[in-house]
Amino acid sequence: MAFTNLGDLPVLPQPESFALTAAYNEDTFPNKVNLGQGVYRDNNCQPWVLPSIREAEQTLHNQQVNHEYLPIAGHAQFLTKARDLLFSPAIASQDNITSIQAVAGTGANHLAAIFCARNLRPKNVFISDPTWDNHHLIWEIAAPNVTRKLYPYYDPCTRGLNFDGMLSELEKSAEENDVVILHACAHNPTGIDPTQDQWKKIADAVRRKKLIVIFDCAYQGFASGAADADAWAIRYFYTTLFTESSSSTGPAGMFVCQSLSKNFGLYGERIGALHLITPPLLPTQGAKAHLVRLVRAEISCPSLFGARLVHTVLDDTELVSKWHEDVKTMAHRIKGVRALLKSELETLGAQGDWGHIEQQIGMFSFTGLSSAQVQQLREKHHIYMLSNGRMSLSGLDEGNVAYVAQAIKDVL
Ligand SMILES: Cc1ncc(COP(=O)(O)O)c(C=O)c1O
Repeated sequence: MAFTNLGDLPVLPQPESFALTAAYNEDTFPNKVNLGQGVYRDNNCQPWVLPSIREAEQTLHNQQVNHEYLPIAGHAQFLTKARDLLFSPAIASQDNITSIQAVAGTGANHLAAIFCARNLRPKNVFISDPTWDNHHLIWEIAAPNVTRKLYPYYDPCTRGLNFDGMLSELEKSAEENDVVILHACAHNPTGIDPTQDQWKKIADAVRRKKLIVIFDCAYQGFASGAADADAWAIRYFYTTLFTESSSSTGPAGMFVCQSLSKNFGLYGERIGALHLITPPLLPTQGAKAHLVRLVRAEISCPSLFGARLVHTVLDDTELVSKWHEDVKTMAHRIKGVRALLKSELETLGAQGDWGHIEQQIGMFSFTGLSSAQVQQLREKHHIYMLSNGRMSLSGLDEGNVAYVAQAIKDVL
């Protein structure tokens, strides 16, 4: 529809997690609880600057760094370290991985969508049902000619993965060169990942049907507490589909959208990378030039501070091991509050089985609460979470978990 008058533009709703945080900030109730936004909080529900990042900040401060422009593709040493974190140096020495800095995970997803739409021209993009809501908006805006389709992911009866539904939908409906977005680990919002055996079956379907995978990797380290373990699926797809020993008749390419917002606690610095994997022995310069061109048009060149911080951590053996400990601290605290919430609900005799809260992984629990129950939690108890029942567990601590459990019991 064409508008002649800007005043005619309809008012659109704010994205839910941001709207929730705004409402939470305005709420004056002393015991309010924010379980909406996917950000890590410490034991007192406060923002946490990772100690490894604090040290890196100090190092940069002492170095009296300048503030020149980066190259369009980004901070080269940061990109190598970020790539190695995903692929491990052993396999990442392959020259068929093209890496480019992006405006966090969101920017990487956006760049992948635009690049695909312009250069690979898929007919459809398959998105998990449910997913991070921004996948839909990104593809709607960046790739309007690509049809968005859902593949089943969550089974409300088992509160687990609907693996058969997922695979059969891809087998039935995906066509050669279609895109499928896969969450690399700690699926948002469900907290449920495929097993290694299931990943192998997905990779097999992707290879046979020649699908373009976009791995969205926003929570490396949050699923298991270990960055290497959480990159298993990405490494498996890479080695089975894109190394010289793998079949040369596979997909045209694969993308990994890497966010460093959560696992480095650098939410506001907007630091991430997009990695494009091409079949072995194919020239990569053309693909890289097209990515660079898209970045030039959008942001000219990426921002420096977050890249410097991550590089400073990953380039220093002592700081890297401190960072691994920091990631463990975050993952273990969230695991701890899962157990606490489940046990409080059981102690209170809250109706139902709450085992899934402990079984799910990563930052979120897909609680199974209905949108009406979520609304009551907010209106009666000042507890804020997404209407699909997703709870960001890092908003819980020992001080508020009993209050939240009691409130949940009340709205059941
Ligand atoms: C699945 C998923 N992908 C990507 C992102 C984007 O993260 P950012 O742009 O903050 O790095 C998020 C953030 O919530 C996410 O949950």
